[in-house]
Amino acid sequence: MNEEMTLDGVLADIAARLDHAARDRRAAMHMPVVGTADGDLRIMVLRACDPDFTALRFHTDARSSKVSLIGCGAPVSLLAFDPEAKIQIRARGVGRIETGGAVADAAWDQASAYARRCYLAEGGPGTPTPAPVSGLPAEVEGIRPTPEQLLPARENFAVLLVTLTSLDWLYLAHNGHRRAKFSRGDAGSPWQGTWVIP
Ligand SMILES: Cc1cc2nc3c(=O)[nH]c(=O)nc-3n(C[C@H](O)[C@H](O)[C@H](O)COP(=O)(O)O)c2cc1C
Repeated sequence: MNEEMTLDGVLADIAARLDHAARDRRAAMHMPVVGTADGDLRIMVLRACDPDFTALRFHTDARSSKVSLIGCGAPVSLLAFDPEAKIQIRARGVGRIETGGAVADAAWDQASAYARRCYLAEGGPGTPTPAPVSGLPAEVEGIRPTPEQLLPARENFAVLLVTLTSLDWLYLAHNGHRRAKFSRGDAGSPWQGTWVIP
């Protein structure tokens, strides 16, 4: 990043950074913090990011509290930081949950047996238990479940898709930080960007 940076360049940087984050599990932004309108925050693995930020994809348990909160449309925010690049990305948008359909089916098909096993828990995330347990049935704990054992897990699997409507990019530099903000009314509208004092 240098004096010739442009707002279009920053948008492209955000898209490239989040796309890379979704593809590389070692990327600094692979696990952003995801916020919901109730003020709660949690880390989630970013699974996909399209260049126009219309469907950032996360995987989750359909029984979790954030799923009922987000439903078919609710505000969602994201926060990620890459210490090496010294870049923070804050984003806001509208989230929606899908449990069936092509996107959720494809995501489930691509998930590993170990990833699918999480969705076999005998109760949703946050269910009280008398002892510190995983919630997994004893026969699948510590093993790679068979496809047959994983069949009941599918109904507990959901994707969270987020369409971004605002972005805030902060670059830390010794000679003075740089910050840009972007917003759009909806996914069909062009981004409006401006530099701001960091
Ligand atoms: C490194 C890490 C990665 C995580 N990835 C996910 C994820 O991809 N999806 C998810 O639903 N929860 C993930 N979690 C767990 C969430 O942070 C959270 O504890 C859980 O989803 C329950 O949140 P809720 O009560 O807001 O529904 C992850 C946690 C950590 C520490």
